[in-house]
Amino acid sequence: IRLWLDSHPSPRRVPRTTGARRLVFGNQKGGVGKTATSAGVAEALAEIGQRVLLVDFDPQCHLTKQLGYEMLAIDEPSLAKHMLGEGKGALRDLLVPIEEGAFGGRLFLLPGCKDAFLLDAKLATTRHVRIKEIALEKALEPLESEFDFIVIDCPPSLGYSMDTALYYARTRDGEEPSASGVVIPVLAEDSSADAYDMLYDQIEDLSEDLDVAITKLGFVVNMYDSRKGFIATSSLESWKGIGDPPVLAVVPERKEQREANRLKAPLLSSAPECEQSEAMRAVARAVKG
Ligand SMILES: Nc1ncnc2c1ncn2[C@@H]1O[C@H](COP(=O)(O)OP(=O)(O)O)[C@@H](O)[C@H]1O
Ligand SMILES: [Mg+2]
Repeated sequence: IRLWLDSHPSPRRVPRTTGARRLVFGNQKGGVGKTATSAGVAEALAEIGQRVLLVDFDPQCHLTKQLGYEMLAIDEPSLAKHMLGEGKGALRDLLVPIEEGAFGGRLFLLPGCKDAFLLDAKLATTRHVRIKEIALEKALEPLESEFDFIVIDCPPSLGYSMDTALYYARTRDGEEPSASGVVIPVLAEDSSADAYDMLYDQIEDLSEDLDVAITKLGFVVNMYDSRKGFIATSSLESWKGIGDPPVLAVVPERKEQREANRLKAPLLSSAPECEQSEAMRAVARAVKG
């Protein structure tokens, strides 16, 4: 019976969706692992057969650089320019394939561009987008039919760029709440709890103002090391105690992530067996459903 059930999964376990599923990795605190976990989870989803677009939405372009790709030149087309109605050509032409590992042909990167530093100010004043929150969706929608998941590595900010990413993560009509949403990488320390309070408020305010539902899919407690003592262990308990959203994974602090960055290689191809790669796969399985 178990074998039969495993080979005939219930269709209800796969959330219904319209377009690609959107995963937004956000936290205005820097250095918590947004880039590491968004990349790792995208790689893990590609490993299990999903077509994944990884979007570098941070003007610092850490994701692009860490994976060993070139940032888009400041005067060339970019995601920000497409969002502002200034993009020439098709956004699709900016994608680069990430061929390593077991992702073959299914994992693509939309590289970052420093022009995103100006995005918040421009979104606030532009004439081209009627409502600033829809700018990211308008730009990425043409690519959705080609992907199962679109994974956004957000900047460490709570500005309009974050609003437009949160809006993109909302539950669409006909979509199940677990299909798309926000994944929140955090550390097991007190400043992360304060940062979450602010992000929580922003999500609630935006949901109310625009009358949308934005699912908080879960926390990834990153760089966890119980040897840091009571602050770490009690903070982890606090994250788990929230319950909704759940803790999707606890990722230990390990050398492999920084080594992968130095090698400019995806973690799941450079260190496929390490604990952190396994944690990324656990998050991918949890969000995929
Ligand atoms: N689990 C981990 N163990 C060790 N180092 C990590 C881990 N996760 C992330 N890092 C490192 O910590 C730094 C910050 O992570 P990053 O993903 O860039 O954070 P953010 O995008 O939130 O600013 C990077 O140098 C990254 O390689
Ligand atoms: Mg980052």
